[in-house]
Amino acid sequence: MRRGRWQNPSTMPRPIEALIHIEALAHNLRRARASAPDARVWAVVKANAYGHGIERAFEGLRGADGFALIDLAEAERVRALGWRGPILLLEGVFEARDLELCSRLDLWHVVHCEAQIDWLAAHKTTRPHRVFLKMNSGMNRLGFRPQAFRSAWTRLNALPQVDEISLMTHFSDADGARGIAYQMEVFSEATRDLPGERCVSNSAATLRHAAAADVRADWVRAGIMSYGSAPDYPEHDIAHWDLRPTMTLRARLIGVQALQPGDTVGYGSAFRAEQAMRIGIVACGYADGYPRHCATGTPVLVDGVRSRTLGRVSMDMIAVDLAPVPQADFGTEVTLWGRGPNGSVLAIDEVARAAGTIGYELMCALAQRVPVTVTD
Ligand SMILES: Cc1ncc(COP(=O)(O)O)c(C=O)c1O
Repeated sequence: MRRGRWQNPSTMPRPIEALIHIEALAHNLRRARASAPDARVWAVVKANAYGHGIERAFEGLRGADGFALIDLAEAERVRALGWRGPILLLEGVFEARDLELCSRLDLWHVVHCEAQIDWLAAHKTTRPHRVFLKMNSGMNRLGFRPQAFRSAWTRLNALPQVDEISLMTHFSDADGARGIAYQMEVFSEATRDLPGERCVSNSAATLRHAAAADVRADWVRAGIMSYGSAPDYPEHDIAHWDLRPTMTLRARLIGVQALQPGDTVGYGSAFRAEQAMRIGIVACGYADGYPRHCATGTPVLVDGVRSRTLGRVSMDMIAVDLAPVPQADFGTEVTLWGRGPNGSVLAIDEVARAAGTIGYELMCALAQRVPVTVTD
């Protein structure tokens, strides 16, 4: 097996690995800054940095102004990396005692419901907290309704446990046709004369709407764009937004078959050859996080050349068409998503679309058994 170019062959039980691209993370973060030049940028690192691993992604994202996440244990991990700047809990605390950790680690937290204000009011601390008061401006997940927002602000403002109050909302359709105007109007109206920094935009809003006159942004929350996925794919792709893949999933061919017309491939005989053809068997399957829903025709790069999957994805293997790559053989590198050899790129968004999902889900679902290497 040709393993020369693999980063970490000694720890590879199978010829499969994921790469995390530090430079690409830093580049994508700069893209967020360029899109909202007057704003500070939260690098959103929830869900273990969208599957990349907080510790691995940190090096690429440390140029951010702060880290936004959900899980208190993840906040502890960011502090353990030596980060002394802002950390924001995007859903706030889940129970009263979580506030002790906020005090201890100086975590900023979202306040989206009355219970969180009650807990703060009862919290004993000498260190007042910075909070982000969240409005439900139309998404209908978390937050105070516009009519209740001002009284929540007034309550918070009266608490000695609270230092500064920022104002926040989250858009449901920043990536689509409905856009953000319907929520921006509600948010702007309900916060018109309230002091405090504003934090409203996720990646899609940052890229598509940050320049809109009414979007005052003191902070933006750059999630998926940091990880090299276009938030509004397929309307726009990563090339359009000048984003770079930050995760590569690659494996090698561990088998080659010569099919005759009428031969079928894999479980359920889901692919039938119409003519003689060579196919390769890749050491990657759904147990590695490659979506089983990808049907015949899902794009892959074989030795950097675009080809397609054939038949059903199985637990540990995928079949691919070798017709466009006659030189491919046992040991040839196959890129499932990310960066291939010779500067080739297969955006995770394309594979996600073939699976009926979004890039977020694929990167978050990278399986534990896949060895991960951090690279430039
Ligand atoms: C409140 C909040 N802000 C920001 C983000 C980041 O969104 P994106 O990854 O689309 O940039 C999320 C992600 O779901 C979120 O829930």
